[in-house]
Amino acid sequence: MCGIIACVGSGRTVPTLLDGLDNLEYRGYDSAGVAVQNGAGVSVYKRAGSVSDIKDDISRAAPDGDVGIGHTRWSTHGPPTDANAHPHTDGAGDVAVVHNGVIDNYQTLRSELEDRGVEFTSDTDTEVVPHLFAEHLEDYADTETAFRRTIETIEGSYAIAAVVDGEDAVYAARNGTPLVVGVDDDRYFLASDVPAFLEYTQDVVFLEDGDVAVVRPDDIATKNVSGDSVNRAVDRVDWDPQETGKGAYDHYMLKEINTQPTALKQTIEGRLDVEDATVDIEDFDRGTFSEFDRVQFVACGTSYHAALYGSKLLDDVGVDSTAYRANEYDTNTGPACPDTLVVAVTQSGETADTLKAMRYAEADGATTLAVTNVVGSTAAREADHSMFIRAGPEIGVAATKTFSSQVVSLALLSRQFAMDFPDASPRADFDELAEALARLPSDVETVLDQSNARTIANRYVNDDAFFFIGRDLGFPVAKEGALKFKEITYQHAEGFTSGRLKHGPLALVTPSTPLFAIVTGRHNEKTLTNAKEAKSRGAPIVLVTDDPDAHSDLADVGLEVPSTHPLLEGLLANVQLQLLAYHAADQLGRSIDKPRNLAKSVTVE
Ligand code: F6R
Repeated sequence: MCGIIACVGSGRTVPTLLDGLDNLEYRGYDSAGVAVQNGAGVSVYKRAGSVSDIKDDISRAAPDGDVGIGHTRWSTHGPPTDANAHPHTDGAGDVAVVHNGVIDNYQTLRSELEDRGVEFTSDTDTEVVPHLFAEHLEDYADTETAFRRTIETIEGSYAIAAVVDGEDAVYAARNGTPLVVGVDDDRYFLASDVPAFLEYTQDVVFLEDGDVAVVRPDDIATKNVSGDSVNRAVDRVDWDPQETGKGAYDHYMLKEINTQPTALKQTIEGRLDVEDATVDIEDFDRGTFSEFDRVQFVACGTSYHAALYGSKLLDDVGVDSTAYRANEYDTNTGPACPDTLVVAVTQSGETADTLKAMRYAEADGATTLAVTNVVGSTAAREADHSMFIRAGPEIGVAATKTFSSQVVSLALLSRQFAMDFPDASPRADFDELAEALARLPSDVETVLDQSNARTIANRYVNDDAFFFIGRDLGFPVAKEGALKFKEITYQHAEGFTSGRLKHGPLALVTPSTPLFAIVTGRHNEKTLTNAKEAKSRGAPIVLVTDDPDAHSDLADVGLEVPSTHPLLEGLLANVQLQLLAYHAADQLGRSIDKPRNLAKSVTVE
């Protein structure tokens, strides 16, 4: 949802900004630009188009300097045009600003500025910021005070970075959208996310809501908006800089699908003792969750599907749980009771809808737990407890490895809850599940090595619509399979519980609507019956199964997975569906890592 970057100190600014924007492109790719301050004024270069489209032009045109800011946009206010691209300026070239978020009171501020004779050149909410900043620079003797007064005036969500003519400094502020400082030996970075500068440094300072920072080549000062100093510690992130490149793969998504065995090993490492069949999740001593009776999950998109899967896993240990779409949580549920643990599942830890649901639950007295990939994210900082899924950075907009790591994290958590929740009553020993969890990375490897998803994708890719059905644990997999397919192929795809098909969607079934039936795990009899009903209406049937021979009369073709514990087979089925979506999108020549209209981190409601 827009990516911002700033770089302060030691030259090489423009190439560094452009590399950073490349790494942030998953946050938006409508338009991009940079502004550089080098003693000869603030120079701005920006255009509609993706960073890769305009990178060469910008590096040819932009002079270098010691201080600069950059932006890659996902439009909210105004279409993707050159004029709406960031950075925005005050018109006189004194100030340039990049912004991620939404300024709620921009209409009022814009009208007031226009009444004072200010001319606007874009449709964006952001443009009020440089104009206000320029006005305050006239009123206040020092730039920092002028900047803090500007920030005081705006309402909404923002990560802002600004440069001012003649100053070797970046002025930054954060409220409701992420902003992190990178600390290198001879320079500082500021960005929406760590991968923007991970190739240079792993030392970071996570800014918090309400922080205003002034970053100079030799120091960084963090204050609140009133000007009182606030102390922010330097953390070290343990992401490997190598993880941010595409490596030998054509797309980040393919890399991320293929590196799931490693991601899963990281998720499990040090947390699962197969011999004793126990889990030990750091920070969660036995009894951490003993005062709770039930769990409510809040999540969006793929993370919601992981939460649905997690809810089934909790069912199995006798823990009462419900998965809510975070964007509807406050309208769907009564107040969370103090005996409710609200688990926010969010890869980025920055999804506005999920944060809002968490805050809503907290306000009602619930305890919150964030299951997230990003250390230092807003969800991790705001929740009472956090569990990190340790999948490593995910750059492809379509979530893949983080879904698998989220589900495995929830499987580990289900064991912790089974030990802690007073009413929990596991249906079976953990021994077999523990062994299957430990084996999961190699089972995923087997799927990756032997998958025929590409052949199946090629066979059906030009059909009219694609249906995915499943029951029990197959249901979240069907939903996720359909979401992945539609996101990156732009083909119509829907996921249902198998039984729903005959209550309406069957009307859409034709010989050009392949049906993917998830028959892994347990409770598959009815899914097979429902698949037969679709076959009788002419639909090609693709069964995702660990036993293709058993269903050879029904399936036109199969996507096979290794047999494992019934609670985990759905994860293997999901890897097949990830590959199916990928190969179908590749065949259609889609923009796989940056599907149209989408952004990875959705920081607006
Ligand atoms: C789908 C996808 C989105 C995200 C959703 C939540 O491939 O990536 O549906 O899952 O926007 O994002 P997080 O997990 O960051 O809260």
